[in-house]
Amino acid sequence: MLVVLAAVSLAAGAVDGPAAQAAGNAAAGYPAGCPWMNTHLDASTRASLLLSSSSLDQKLRWLDEKAANSPTQTTFTSFSGVATTYPAQVACTPTVVYADGADFVRNAGSDVTIYPSQVDLAATWSSGLAYAKGKAQANDAFETGHNVILGPDLENGRTPLDGRTPEDLGEDSLLGGNQAAAQINGLQNGDADEPVMAVLKHYVANEQEADRNNMSTNMSTRTLEEVYNQPFNIALSQSSPGGIMCSYNQINGAYACENPILDNVLKGQDGFQGYVTSDFFAVHSTAPSLNAGLDQELNNPIHYTPANIQAALDSGQVTMAQINEAAFRVVRSYIASGLFDHLMPTTVPTTTQTPYSEAVAEQVAQNGSVLLKNSGQALPLGKSSGTIAVIGQTASATPTNGVSAETVCTQEAPDGMDNATDCPDVVAPLTSITSRAAQDGLRVTYDTGSDIASAVAAAKTAKTAVVFAYAEEGEGADRTSLSLDGNGDALISAVAAANPNTIVVLETGSAVAMPWLSQVKGVVEAWYPGEQQGTALAKLLFGDADFTGRLPITFPASLADTPTDTTAQYPGIEDSNGIYQTSFSEGLDVGYKWYEAQDIKPLFPFGYGLSYTRYSYSGIKVNGGGNGKSAIRVSFTVRNDGTKTGTVTLQVYVTQPASTGEPGHALVGYQQVTLKPGQSQKATITIDPTSAAHPISYYDTKTSSWVTAAGRYTFQVGSDSQTAALSQAIEIR
Ligand code: BGC
Repeated sequence: MLVVLAAVSLAAGAVDGPAAQAAGNAAAGYPAGCPWMNTHLDASTRASLLLSSSSLDQKLRWLDEKAANSPTQTTFTSFSGVATTYPAQVACTPTVVYADGADFVRNAGSDVTIYPSQVDLAATWSSGLAYAKGKAQANDAFETGHNVILGPDLENGRTPLDGRTPEDLGEDSLLGGNQAAAQINGLQNGDADEPVMAVLKHYVANEQEADRNNMSTNMSTRTLEEVYNQPFNIALSQSSPGGIMCSYNQINGAYACENPILDNVLKGQDGFQGYVTSDFFAVHSTAPSLNAGLDQELNNPIHYTPANIQAALDSGQVTMAQINEAAFRVVRSYIASGLFDHLMPTTVPTTTQTPYSEAVAEQVAQNGSVLLKNSGQALPLGKSSGTIAVIGQTASATPTNGVSAETVCTQEAPDGMDNATDCPDVVAPLTSITSRAAQDGLRVTYDTGSDIASAVAAAKTAKTAVVFAYAEEGEGADRTSLSLDGNGDALISAVAAANPNTIVVLETGSAVAMPWLSQVKGVVEAWYPGEQQGTALAKLLFGDADFTGRLPITFPASLADTPTDTTAQYPGIEDSNGIYQTSFSEGLDVGYKWYEAQDIKPLFPFGYGLSYTRYSYSGIKVNGGGNGKSAIRVSFTVRNDGTKTGTVTLQVYVTQPASTGEPGHALVGYQQVTLKPGQSQKATITIDPTSAAHPISYYDTKTSSWVTAAGRYTFQVGSDSQTAALSQAIEIR
C-alpha cells in the first residue's frame, strides 16, 4: 500500500497546472486535460494521474463494476430497486463490458465460436492450445463489444459431483495453473489491437455448487496453501490477470469476499497486483470487505455505494488510503490491459467465427478427447467395421426429447441458470461420421436411443455400434450421482449385449461411473466438445488423428471411493445459522493423491489416456537439486514402439520424504513429444524448486513458509499418475 500512495502523490506533484498540462497533452498527441492518456507513461503513473484529478465520488465509481464501466451514466439501480447516483466519471475513461465465459463468450449478442469446455482444454495438457483459445476468444469478445472476460476458472476437483467441473481446469494445481496462465496470456496479449482483460476466478476453495452462498469450507492453513491457493499462485507466477474474482463460499467462517486471505495471501504473499472483484451478490458488507482487500463490487452498487463507504470513512472503519488503493488497482489494471487505449467497435458483426477460431475449437476437441478403452483394436474404425449403427441423441443435431449435439456443445447449466446460448453452428458427429464412413464405403444408420428396444434392433443389424451418451451439468447445482443422463447406462448395456463391437463416446463434464465397462470394446471421453465436435470426433474414431488427450481428473469407480464421502465433508452439515459447515478433513489428499494415499484403484487415474500407438521409456537420470534450490533435470528416453505417429504426454511425479507428511506423489513436470513409428528421443524435464509450484517443498505453518526437507526424493516417469515406468531417487541435503 505504501508504494501505491507514494505513486499517487508523486504523480500529483508532476502535473504543473491546467494550462501547461493541456498544452503538453496536445503536443504529445493525447486529449487535453487527460494526462493519463499519455501512452509513454507506465500504467501505475497513468492511474495515479487519473486519480489525482478525481473527486472522492469519481474514485468511488471504480469500486463498483457498473459505475466503473459506464463512465457517463450517473444513476445505477440495484435489483431490489435502490438507485445510487454519482457524478460522471473524469474524461477519457473507456466503456468496459464484462462477459462470462472461459469456454465461450456468453450472451455475446452475435454468433461466436463455441469452444469445447475448459475441462476439455485441460485434457489437452497443451499450453499452446490454451493460449490459442484465449487469443481466439479475445477476438470474439472484443468484436462483440466485451473487453473483460470473467474467466478462466480454477478449482481442485474435490468432488466429481461439482456442477462447475466442466468450467474448470482439472484437479491438479500445476496443470490447472499452467493452463490458466496460458489462456490469460492469450486473452490479454494475443492481439495488441483488441485487448481483453481476464478475471481469474473463483478465489478460493469454490468446490461445490450445493449451498454455495451459505457454506463454509473449513480447512487447515496448510491445506489452503498447498491445495486451494496453489493453482492461483502458479497462474499468477506466469501471467498477470487484471482481476481476480472472490467466490461465494466462506473459508473458515469468513466469506471469501471479506476474508483477510485476500490481502494476506493473494495480494501479500502471492503478490497479486490487479484488483479483486466480487462474484455476483457475493459481497456481504462494506468495511469488512474493504478491510479484507475487496476492491470492486460486481454489478450495481449494494454494499459499495458512496453513502455506505462515506459512513465507513466517517466512523473510522476504513481509511482514505484504502479507497485510493482499491481505485488505483482497478484503474491500473484497466490501463495495463489496454482498455483505455483501444476502444471497442460500435457495431457488432453478425458472427465472429473465423477459420482460425473454428480451427482452435476443432483442435481442442481433438486433442482433449481421451481414449479410455480400446480392446482388440476396435478403434480406429475402418473398412472392416462394416455397417456402423450410430446411437444416441447427442450424436445428431436434430433434437429428440429436447436433447441433441447442441446440448453437449459446451457446458450446460441446469434449468433456470442456463445463460449458455445455443450452439448454432454445431457440426454433429453423425454428419461427420457418415461422410467419413462413406470414404471407406461404409454405411451408417442412426437411432436416437430414446427407445432402448429400437436401439438394440439397430445395433443388431450393424457390425459396429457407436453409442453417444451424455450427462448435463453446470453452474447452480451439483450432480447427485455418477450416472449418465437419458437412461444412458441402460442404453449402453443393452446395445453392448446386442452387438459385441460396441464403442461408447461419452460427452460429460466430469467423471462418470461405467457399470457397463467390461461389456464394451471402446470408450472415448469427449467432454463437452464444442461446435466442431463432429469433425474432431470423426478424425479420431477413424484414426485420421491420434488420441493425445489425457485425463485432468480422476475417474473413480464409485462415489463411495471419493475423498468426500461423508456428509460432513460434502455437502456439509447445516449449523444453527443456516450455514453448511463443510469439513475439508481429507486435507491434502485431494484428486489422485487421495486414491494413492488410500490405496484405492480408480476406474481411470489422473493423467491416463490411450493412443493408437504405444511408448516405452528407458534410462532415467535425475541430475541436480542436491541443495534443494538448483534445477532438477529428469532425463530419459521415450520410444514410439507402435506403427503410427503419435504425441505422448510425458509426466514426472515426485514423492517427498515421509517426514514431510506429503501424500503420495505429485505431478511436477510434463512435456509433449511427437514421435514417428520406431523413433526414440531423449527428453529432459526440468523442475525448478524455487518456482511457485513448490515441487519439492511443503508448507510449514510454524514458519509460514515453504520448506524443503532433507531426505530422499523419488522421481517417477510414467504415462499416468498410477503407472511408474521409470523411477529414481535423489538425496537432498
Ligand atoms: C458466477 C460467476 C459469474 C457471475 C457473473 C455468477 O453466478 O458464479 O462465475 O462470473 O455470475 O455472471
